Amino acid sequence: MRSYAVEAKERGEQIGLVPTMGALHEGHLSLIRLAAAENDIVIVSDFVNPIQFDDPGDFSAYPSTPEADADASFSAGANVFFVPSAAQMYPEGFSTYIDMTGISERLCGASRSSHFQGVLTVVGKLFGICMPDFAYFGEKDAQQLAIVRKMVDELCMNVSIRGCPTVREDDGLAMSSRNTRLAPNERIAALCLYNALEEGYTLFNNGETSADILLAAMRRIIEAEPLASIDYTEIVDPLTFESVPVARKTDLMILAVYIGAVRLIDNRNF
Ligand code: PAJ
Repeated sequence: MRSYAVEAKERGEQIGLVPTMGALHEGHLSLIRLAAAENDIVIVSDFVNPIQFDDPGDFSAYPSTPEADADASFSAGANVFFVPSAAQMYPEGFSTYIDMTGISERLCGASRSSHFQGVLTVVGKLFGICMPDFAYFGEKDAQQLAIVRKMVDELCMNVSIRGCPTVREDDGLAMSSRNTRLAPNERIAALCLYNALEEGYTLFNNGETSADILLAAMRRIIEAEPLASIDYTEIVDPLTFESVPVARKTDLMILAVYIGAVRLIDNRNF
């Protein structure tokens, strides 16, 4: 993979990278299509990164559909479908990890202790291997996107990060590889994430700015759903991911909710 990237650079070609964990859906494909429109070469990586899972059950249940993913990637404009193995990425004796303090300890970093260390380490490695000029990440994982941007800035990595809007199902549920694990009644229950964000949006745009009041209204919607249990619901500054007492237009409502055993996340601004 590295030699291919080096040769492409020597030919003066611009490389776009779309890191994924496979089980591709329209959300991933939107990233690949944008990358194809903006670069000469598009590399899609498919690697279910073991070190970013703190729950072994979640890791082993993670869906895997590599053949369909490769076909879908090529149809969306990818040139290379890169599927490294865990043994190649983390050979025996591997001991270098990228850690971030502050922002990465909140929200998804608080409830999943070494999650962002795993994400940053694998993304840093993928940048080293694929040498992208541009790398594409979804706003659905808003905290991940912010943390990757911060790593690139602070470690002076030679890549530009492109954030892409969240792609949703017709009823509003954010597309996610984990949605395939929802039973039919859970799939209906999962709409409470989107409905809570819509409620917050509507209240804010009718003049309510108190984060406590907005969050209480959002939580009421989720708590009314018997299959749902809240991991977190917050209103945060989009750069620091610190909670704000008074919501502003650019702040993010962000939430993580278990629907049965499946943990889903979503976010939106006002
Ligand atoms: P994964 O969950 O497979 O997501 C890969 C990329 O697709 C991420 O940038 C994610 O934000 C984006 N994405 C997922 N659902 C989306 C949706 N509904 N709309 C738009 N974009 C969406 O995120 C990861 O993998 C991993 O943490 C990874 C970055 C690959 C590191 O292992």
